[in-house]
Amino acid sequence: MGVEVSVEGLSKSFGSQTIWQDVSLTLPAGEVSALLGPSGTGKSVFLKSLIGLLRPEEGKIIIDGTDILQCSSKELYEVRKMFGVLFQDGALFGSMDLYDNVAFPLREHTKKSESEIRKIVMEKLELNGLIGAEHKLPGEISGGMRKRAGLARALVLDPEIILVDEPDSGLDPVRTTYLSQLLIDINTEIDATILIVTHNINLARTVPDNLGMLFRKNLVMFGPREVLLTSDEPVVKQFLHGSKIGPIGMSEEKDDAQMAAELAERDAGHHDGSPDEDLRGVVRQMEPSPGLGERKAVGRRQARVREILHTLPPEAQRGIVASLEGRYGAEAMDDAPTEVLAAAQTGDGPVNG
Ligand SMILES: Nc1ncnc2c1ncn2[C@@H]1O[C@H](COP(=O)(O)OP(=O)(O)OP(=O)(O)O)[C@@H](O)[C@H]1O
Ligand SMILES: [Mg+2]
Repeated sequence: MGVEVSVEGLSKSFGSQTIWQDVSLTLPAGEVSALLGPSGTGKSVFLKSLIGLLRPEEGKIIIDGTDILQCSSKELYEVRKMFGVLFQDGALFGSMDLYDNVAFPLREHTKKSESEIRKIVMEKLELNGLIGAEHKLPGEISGGMRKRAGLARALVLDPEIILVDEPDSGLDPVRTTYLSQLLIDINTEIDATILIVTHNINLARTVPDNLGMLFRKNLVMFGPREVLLTSDEPVVKQFLHGSKIGPIGMSEEKDDAQMAAELAERDAGHHDGSPDEDLRGVVRQMEPSPGLGERKAVGRRQARVREILHTLPPEAQRGIVASLEGRYGAEAMDDAPTEVLAAAQTGDGPVNG
């Protein structure tokens, strides 16, 4: 099973520019988490910090018990082997065909024979729908295929932790859904700890077990998906709706006066292009493809969430209880009977099963 990644009080700056400060979160072992945030808030910097490519000035990054900001370079090398990473730009070698790109980590980090390598590479290419394209160069294929090739390469060393930076960028909505399914299936098959950085609201609503958001140099929230999906936080609501109204501006954050003016305009009937319906609420989570069986993270997460249920906002508690009863969206925002919540907290209720 994947390992836990725990970040405590992490701060990163470049020169005098603070990127984010005092970030604390735990990626539960074997669960899928996603990190949202406007462009430039340091999501990619965060991923690079987790694998030790960038060095935050303060805080701890504890991976399977090792603080990678304190450990020796030999230990860091060992920890890095646990990771599979899909960088934002795919980072394929332009002069190598897809086969050699995917085989690269195996040739570099293992002593496997070429026939063993071939078996693994073909299996990962097949998983990512790339059979037939193995002898193409990265420059000869579409952006979506490059993403999938990057993902195939990230998987060859059987990683315990998978980081994917905007896997959906440049993909059409249908391909994004296939890719979402692939991530859920990978989690089902290898039970790895996964962190996805994304701007894609649909992916964020349906794929991860846990959701977080970076904004204004801070981690606004991080926790079970239901917390963010039912949140009243203006920046979270704006992001989920892709709305112009809210604290996120085109190039910078807005001040309160500007936000008030925009709200007044909307109330006066001006349409800003965002959807009219309230998109808040917990929607059904994507399930593994038929034949793969259960995703083991689901049961573990239910037990974990039950433990912390009483610490979550009431809306999130309702969303959790409702989803366990198969109620989603607006229906789930109705008041749950208090005895259901009470039973859930003591472990006798539906949250248990
Ligand atoms: N190596 C670096 N040296 C100096 N500044 C950097 C470096 N890497 C990133 N930055 C700065 O850190 C900030 C955050 O960058 P980052 O790429 O992490 O944003 P992001 O949230 O991933 O954005 P996007 O959603 O557009 O990918 C930016 O202002 C960027 O210029
Ligand atoms: Mg980025």
